Amino acid sequence: ARIFVPNDATAIACGADRVARTLADALAARGVQIDIVRNGSRGLFWLEPLLEVETPAGRVGYGPVTPADIDGLLAAGLLDGQAHPLCVGLVEEIPYLKKQTRLTFARCGIIDPLSLDDYTAHDGYKGLAKAVEIGPAAIVEEVFQSGLRGRGGAGFPTGIKWRTVAGAPADQKYIVCNADEGDSGTFADRMIMEADPFCLIEGMTIAGIAVGATKGFVYCRSEYPLSLIVMEKAIAIARRAGLLGPNVAGSGYAFDIEMRMGAGAYVCGEETALLDSLEGKRGIVRAKPPLPAFKGLFGRPTVINNLISLATVPVILEKGGAFYKDFGMGRSRGTMPIQLAGNIKYGGLFETAFGISLGELVNEIGGGTASGRPVRAVQAGGPLGAYLPVHQFDTPFDYEAFAAKDALIGHGGITVFDDTVDMAQMARFAMEFCSHESCGKCTPCRIGSTRGKETLDKIIAGERREANLAILTDLCQTMKLGSLCALGGFTPYPVMSALTHFPEDFGVAPKLPA
Ligand code: NAI
Ligand code: SF4
Repeated sequence: ARIFVPNDATAIACGADRVARTLADALAARGVQIDIVRNGSRGLFWLEPLLEVETPAGRVGYGPVTPADIDGLLAAGLLDGQAHPLCVGLVEEIPYLKKQTRLTFARCGIIDPLSLDDYTAHDGYKGLAKAVEIGPAAIVEEVFQSGLRGRGGAGFPTGIKWRTVAGAPADQKYIVCNADEGDSGTFADRMIMEADPFCLIEGMTIAGIAVGATKGFVYCRSEYPLSLIVMEKAIAIARRAGLLGPNVAGSGYAFDIEMRMGAGAYVCGEETALLDSLEGKRGIVRAKPPLPAFKGLFGRPTVINNLISLATVPVILEKGGAFYKDFGMGRSRGTMPIQLAGNIKYGGLFETAFGISLGELVNEIGGGTASGRPVRAVQAGGPLGAYLPVHQFDTPFDYEAFAAKDALIGHGGITVFDDTVDMAQMARFAMEFCSHESCGKCTPCRIGSTRGKETLDKIIAGERREANLAILTDLCQTMKLGSLCALGGFTPYPVMSALTHFPEDFGVAPKLPA
């Protein structure tokens, strides 16, 4: 039997390291020999630190555990999975987990992140084996058939991107993993790196074989020091096992990966600024074309994909594109790891097929607000995403359905606000955020964001409100149409959605419903 205590940044922030140490000491004092595995998180954050014990019936969970609970837990029969007020029963039976469709996150929280044996025992490297068997052209076709779209937010078909890079002649090509997960309320990339690093390594290796790239880089945000440590260890293990290097798993293909850390700029999540940063320059957005697919890292054809897109490739290769495509709705195929955050009772990761409604996510799965007050708005898709009011909660989680409401699903983050939120202040925050994070290359964003913040200050102060609202609306239109990248181009979405749905917060009489 083994005991699992997550080695995940959220769990550690909730005290998992102290719990693991106290448990190890208590077991040693009792002369009990039992392995404590530092697994990843299951993504049920309100239960962290979630301690799990292997029993003949399955893994029994206890959470949230504090060091002070350890003695009592051991006395109550923790090692046999006995009852205790903190016991949550069989972890796999917790409804929050049971209702999910875990394809990309299938192993998260289950395996020891740094055990290759554990990884392969849970279907790891089956995707790579299939990829080697079918060869580059068929891999690209399989990914295309799966319907997988870029999980960073733009939703561009991954198969088409790979096809473009595969067809670009060059002496050197690259795979770049965008792990600069900067959106508010998102943590899916981090969870994969800390819970299932070989899955990302496998996905990038398959991408390399598919397009003829021999080198990959993971660009990780600076706020994820633990992810870096886990990934570095996993890469070293994979190299030693011959799963990275000049002859990957004896296949004849060469592929290797290096980690790179960002320095804290939100705009470096934009693909071309990321590439500049990776080249050692200051991260400034490049004009497109040329697309990174033709001229990317060091001017070479580059597949740059969000981490979740790459981590989804192994299961697509293992089970087939048709299997993956079977999940979802419309043109949004497969599953999405939705991240529930902000003022929410059950915050965490919920991977499910596209099509689930926003209301079900927030109220039924998330349990409403943590404060117990009514939900007023959610922001979907990070700081540049629109605010959706409760009357739009029937919107299905789907790229096109969100776009039809001038909203975006982005990287799958949902941040919940209760009725104490001041939406004019949230609109101001969007402009302020943009002015802080702007790379400065283009005028609508660099200057518009500061003018937007000032104009909102005047509106909030009640100064020439009508005229200033007209200026704000005009400015938003200019930023939307005239900005070079999504930072300046999407900042108008939170601003205008706040104004449209919550005019009363701006001192404007609300419109009567049609
Ligand atoms: P985009 O639509 O310009 O491009 C999407 C991707 O497809 C890029 O990688 C691009 O290089 C590639 N692409 C486009 N046409 C192609 C072709 N013909 N062949 C091969 N590749 C092609 O969108 P962009 O600027 O990359 O991202 C904007 C999106 O980013 C927004 O929709 C927003 O949802 C999202 N976003 C995500 C954030 C996050 O933290 N994850 C933050 C801010 C925005
Ligand atoms: Fe830079 Fe902003 Fe222009 Fe993007 S929109 S290129 S962040 S100035």
